[in-house]
Amino acid sequence: TSARIVVAGSLNADLTIYCERLPSPGETLHGSGFAVNPGGKSANQAVSAAKLGGNVTLLGAVGEDPNGDMLVASTAGAGVDVSHVRRVAEPTGVAVISVEDSGENSIIINAGANGTLSPADMSPAVFVGAGVVCLCLEVSLDTVQAAAQAGHDAGATVLLNLSPYAPVTEGLARLTDVLLVNAHEASQFLDGFHLPAPDAPVGAWAGAVEKFASRGLNKVLVTLGAAGSVVLDSTNAAQPVARIAPTRVDAVDTTGAGDAFTGGVAARLAAGDTLVDAAHYASVAAALAATKKGTQTAYPTVAEVAARL
Ligand code: RIB
Ligand code: NA
Repeated sequence: TSARIVVAGSLNADLTIYCERLPSPGETLHGSGFAVNPGGKSANQAVSAAKLGGNVTLLGAVGEDPNGDMLVASTAGAGVDVSHVRRVAEPTGVAVISVEDSGENSIIINAGANGTLSPADMSPAVFVGAGVVCLCLEVSLDTVQAAAQAGHDAGATVLLNLSPYAPVTEGLARLTDVLLVNAHEASQFLDGFHLPAPDAPVGAWAGAVEKFASRGLNKVLVTLGAAGSVVLDSTNAAQPVARIAPTRVDAVDTTGAGDAFTGGVAARLAAGDTLVDAAHYASVAAALAATKKGTQTAYPTVAEVAARL
């Protein structure tokens, strides 16, 4: 049996236009389709973890509007406990997304109801008994830090997805057990430190392992897009760097693939996997998520991941 996972943070309605290529500033393009889908990094992470077998509680806020109904239906439909998703007067958060033919995207988010979440909402009682706590930076840093503290106090493993990037306090870094970043966020976190090329041998990552450790982060997962990912673990003397090979797929829409990865890591850590095994499993889930349009609606099930492992 799997430990409970608490995901605290954002829920958004994703307003997505598909287009041949992303527009340049000042340019207007014809799109090739439009969809409104459930999204938001935390809701996505919760749905990914639940579809992959996790026992997930989501803490967040949506408006009293149709987008809020859509998000509650989507997360609850995936088996997530939504009894701590508040309905508030502010409108549900939205993300305006452009996805080009290559599968690449650009996103602007408007916090709406997510902006009402405060440290007081991170009630320690919800975290009691949790094995894993999963956080991202789409709600205020104070709120994220309060959730990390509550998770830490409950003895849970605290995962922090440093997205969208913001400088984090030393306190939040100290409360984080596993940091999940893409290459860009990693280099921003390390003040412009040059990461090795995606195809560099594992030895080339030694400097990054040390740099992260000096910032209080001993376990870091760096996703490298089509090059897979690396697991950095300064506490693992035998294997401080492990490379996770990419899963080759035809990407249609990479929106939320990172959230599928984070949710997958949460689900597998809660089930007792090592960090390397969890990252391997999650990277297959993330690759499969990119083969379909949308985020939550595209996330794979245990059976679908098993078929590609
Ligand atoms: O990570 C993808 C998510 O980022 C989208 O679902 C969108 O809501 C934005 O929050
Ligand atoms: Na997708």
